[in-house]
Amino acid sequence: MNKLLETIIENNRVWTEKGKVATYIPELSKANPRHLGIAVYTVDNEEYFAGDYDVKFTMQSISKVVALMLALLDNGKEIVFSKVDMEPTADTFNSISSLETRTPNKPLNPMINSGAIVTSSLINGRNGDEVIEKFLKFTRKITNNPHIEINYDVYKSEKETGHRNRSLAYYMKSIGIIEGDVEEALDVYFKQCSIEVTCKDIARIGAMLANDGVLPWNGERVIPRQVARIVKTIMLTCGMYDASGEFAVKVGVPGKSGVGGGILASVPSRMGIGVFGPALDSKGNSIGGWKVLEEVSRELDLSIL
Ligand code: DON
Repeated sequence: MNKLLETIIENNRVWTEKGKVATYIPELSKANPRHLGIAVYTVDNEEYFAGDYDVKFTMQSISKVVALMLALLDNGKEIVFSKVDMEPTADTFNSISSLETRTPNKPLNPMINSGAIVTSSLINGRNGDEVIEKFLKFTRKITNNPHIEINYDVYKSEKETGHRNRSLAYYMKSIGIIEGDVEEALDVYFKQCSIEVTCKDIARIGAMLANDGVLPWNGERVIPRQVARIVKTIMLTCGMYDASGEFAVKVGVPGKSGVGGGILASVPSRMGIGVFGPALDSKGNSIGGWKVLEEVSRELDLSIL
C-alpha cells in the first residue's frame, strides 16, 4: 500500500505547478507549493503514508468539521440547525450575499465561513479561551496526538486580515444568529483555523468518522453515531464549497478542504485519508490533493455511490 501511495503522489506532483498557495492570509503564502503528501488510517488500525505526509500545515476550514462536532455535542441538532442550514452552495466560501437575501435568514451550511463562525459560537465555555482549550483537547484526542498546538504566526496573520469574517460575524450578531460576544466567537474561529496538523492527524479524524464515532486505536466512542453521520453527510454535500458536487462525482466520499492545503476525507466503514498540497485551485481546494484523492479513489474503489 505504501508503494501504491508513493506512486500516486509522484504521478500527481505535476498538478502542484498549476495551483497557487493562498496569499490572502499573508502567513500562508510562505508554504512550499510543491509539497504533496498523503496518509491513510484504516478502521482496522493500519496506517500508510507517502510523500510530504509529515509536513505541518494549518487546518483552516478543516477545523469546521471539528467545530460542527462540538456544537452538535453541546447543543443537539435542533438548536444547531435552527441557526445554520444544511444546504450546499454555489457561492464562494466567504460569501456574504446570501446571508441577507435568503429566507430563512441564516448561513447555508456549517462548512462555509459564516456557518462555521456560528458553530464556533455555539460551543459551550465561559469565554473564548475556555472554548479554544476545549477545542484543542478534543482535536488532540481524535488525532491521537497530544502535541497539537496553534500556530500563533498564522493566527496573528488571520486576525489582522480577517475583515470579511468580521463583517459576516457582526451581520449575524445584528440578526440574532450569534447570541454571545462577537469578538470572542471570531477569536475562537481564527484560532481553530490556525491549529497545526499533518496528513496523519487528519487521516485519524477521518478514520474516527469512518468508524461511526469510535476511535479505531482504542475503541473509545467520542461522538454518537448520529453525530458522525450528520458530519459526514454535511461534508459530502458541502465540504468542498462550490466544488462539492464535482468532488462527489470524481472522488465520491465525504471530504473537507482548507486553504492551508489539506483535505480530510472519510470513507465510511473503511478509512480516513489526509492529503496535503498547499497549491490551490481557483476555488481554494488543494489542486494536487484533489487529484491524489481521485486516483486513490479509483485504485481502491472508494466511491460510496
Ligand atoms: O476564514 C478563512 O478565510 C480561513 N481561515 C479559512 C478558509 C478556508 O480554509 C477556506 N478553504 N478552502
